[in-house]
Amino acid sequence: MSNAPVKVAVTGAAGQIGYSLLFRLASGSLLGPDTPIQLQLLEITPALKALEGVVMELDDCAFSTLAGVEIGDDPNTIFDGVNLALLVGARPRGPGMERGDLLEANGAIFTAQGRALNAVAADDVRVGVTGNPANTNALIAMTNAPDIPSERFSALTRLDHNRAISQLAAKTGAKVTDIKKMSIWGNHSATQYPDIFHAEVGGKNAAEVVDDQAWIENDFIPTVAKRGAAIIDARGSSSAASAASATIDAARDWLQGTPDGDWVSMAVKSDGSYGVPEGLIYSYPVTTKDGSWEIVQGLEIDDFSRAKMDATAAELADERDAVKGLGLI
Ligand code: NAD
Ligand code: LMR
Repeated sequence: MSNAPVKVAVTGAAGQIGYSLLFRLASGSLLGPDTPIQLQLLEITPALKALEGVVMELDDCAFSTLAGVEIGDDPNTIFDGVNLALLVGARPRGPGMERGDLLEANGAIFTAQGRALNAVAADDVRVGVTGNPANTNALIAMTNAPDIPSERFSALTRLDHNRAISQLAAKTGAKVTDIKKMSIWGNHSATQYPDIFHAEVGGKNAAEVVDDQAWIENDFIPTVAKRGAAIIDARGSSSAASAASATIDAARDWLQGTPDGDWVSMAVKSDGSYGVPEGLIYSYPVTTKDGSWEIVQGLEIDDFSRAKMDATAAELADERDAVKGLGLI
């Protein structure tokens, strides 16, 4: 292998998602078999011993793409020179909690990490936020990293996007690979709007293929939007392997581009597109190329979709105001 290693930071590396994510990253799922990866793993001090055990397991896999691993509890050291930072570490919600309950507990983590990234990350750094409440944590990190271009920050709604594809595939009997142009709008929360009106199943409009507005409203949308809670109820802890998989999907497509004729959902800084207040980290359908994204423009939005897109924007505006009130942005 002649390529220089890509430095990838993962926070919360000893957590549930980390336990799935690190092995996928190290085995080449992100950048393929020819690009070595250097893992930079951040944890809080009490979790470092557990993280040492995970690193022993990484060693024991003898991955050909893993160039090295560094662990630590200081973001200024761990983020030094990183090209990609996957911010996963945060307290997950338990049964009965909404993601908004995590704002205060987790917000402070992202001010410190935003500042550290601003100070020491590589010039080409991309920052993907998985830790909840993901959109607003990304807003906090972005605001605390004024020297990093704001389009380098995104929050994870790819899990919702993948959940939506899977539900639509099950409903229509299509393969997941036949489903294109799924859109998740807004917040990674129960107010998100999974939209199949622009999606395609085997090249045909998905809403027309389904032809069942009651299913869309009463089944599909709530199933996708509340899937995280359903998993917490069933498993007793929040989604982990699927979240890790979506974190990789999102980062891979961001860095390597979306295929022609398709798009993905990413929560990115709103430029006002589709009437969403500027500056919110709002999930849009986007196309990506060479590490950049563009919001898909020109989609027709009917009254049903408009109301749902506005409701999730309003929740994000409330979250932004709450973290402003806490002095985090
Ligand atoms: P977990 O509790 O198993 O692991 C979190 C880890 O983060 C812990 O090891 C903890 O020590 C560490 N941590 C806490 N504060 C930290 C800090 N300041 N710096 C570095 N590490 C820190 O949780 P998990 O199940 O891995 O979930 C992690 C986060 O991802 C949660 O916020 C969860 O809600 C979120 N999540 C998001 C999505 C999504 O689609 N966006 C999906 C699933 C989970
Ligand atoms: C999920 O969507 O599975 C995660 O965001 C976990 C949660 O709190 O729902």
